[in-house]
Amino acid sequence: MKSFMTLLLYFAFQILVYCMPFATVALTLSSKTDKLALLALKEKLTNGAPDSLPSWNESQHFCEWQGVTCGRRHMRVTALHFENQTLGGTLGSSVGNLTFLRILQLRNVNLYGEIPSQIGRLKRLQVLNLKNNNLHGEVPMELTNCTNIKVILLRSNRLSGRIPTWFDSMNQLTQLNLAANNLVGTIPSSVGNVSSLQKLSFGENRLEGSIPHSLVVYDLFV
Ligand SMILES: *[C@@H]1O[C@H](CO)[C@@H](O)[C@H](O)[C@H]1NC(C)=O
Ligand SMILES: *[C@@H]1O[C@H](CO)[C@@H](O)[C@H](O)[C@H]1NC(C)=O
Ligand SMILES: *[C@@H]1O[C@H](CO)[C@@H](O)[C@H](O)[C@H]1NC(C)=O
Ligand SMILES: *[C@@H]1O[C@H](CO)[C@@H](O)[C@H](O)[C@H]1NC(C)=O
Ligand SMILES: *[C@@H]1O[C@H](CO)[C@@H](O)[C@H](O)[C@H]1NC(C)=O
Repeated sequence: MKSFMTLLLYFAFQILVYCMPFATVALTLSSKTDKLALLALKEKLTNGAPDSLPSWNESQHFCEWQGVTCGRRHMRVTALHFENQTLGGTLGSSVGNLTFLRILQLRNVNLYGEIPSQIGRLKRLQVLNLKNNNLHGEVPMELTNCTNIKVILLRSNRLSGRIPTWFDSMNQLTQLNLAANNLVGTIPSSVGNVSSLQKLSFGENRLEGSIPHSLVVYDLFV
């Protein structure tokens, strides 16, 4: 019995020794993925302006860069936060490579262009705050894949098209603000099926028709 246990321990040890380098390599590779994505994102966010985001340089780990937050254990980017400063560029599709991202907050930073469809790759995303920019195009349908999303704030942009009808697939959504854009059409009644919703704003758009009965409980025009 004793020798059996010794044998078992020996094999467990062998497996550990054998697998450890692979785990380390995997971690380093995925961390590299985030660094490449951030560098590509910087290029777009700042429109290539060389003096923007000076802290995003090689002298320190990307987890220390301004506006970047990482998870302590895995060193993957979990939040990206800029507010009230001029970045002046676009949100690049490489944002979709930051697959550990939970908070994307780029508020009042002079962003233009469209919200990339790759946002749908961010399965862990909980907060999307792109308020007060100049984003145009439609609210990307791919957002429907972000099933953990709780807060979507897109107020004061130049978004067009109709209010998406797929919000009812987001059963964690508590806040949705699409006010002050160029949205047309009617408010879809399916929004009333999102029982988690606490705050909803569609005001200052070019919407028509009446407010669906299912929505009268919400604070519509804040
Ligand atoms: C983002 O991921 C895609 C698909 O995995 C890859 O082809 C692309 O090179 C990545 N982009 C960056 C900037 O890392
Ligand atoms: C790199 O970032 C550090 C930390 O923010 C900063 O002190 C340093 O001046 C930066 N280097 C360059 C060349 O911008
Ligand atoms: C950014 O500006 C808004 C509006 O003036 C303000 O409410 C908010 O507190 C500011 N945020 C920061 C981090 O300064
Ligand atoms: C949602 O994710 C699934 C699986 O990851 C993918 O096949 C599908 O194309 C995605 N849909 C959108 C709208 O991004
Ligand atoms: C709301 O959900 C109920 C129950 O799943 C469904 O029967 C109804 O069609 C939905 N309403 C809308 C407008 O999507």
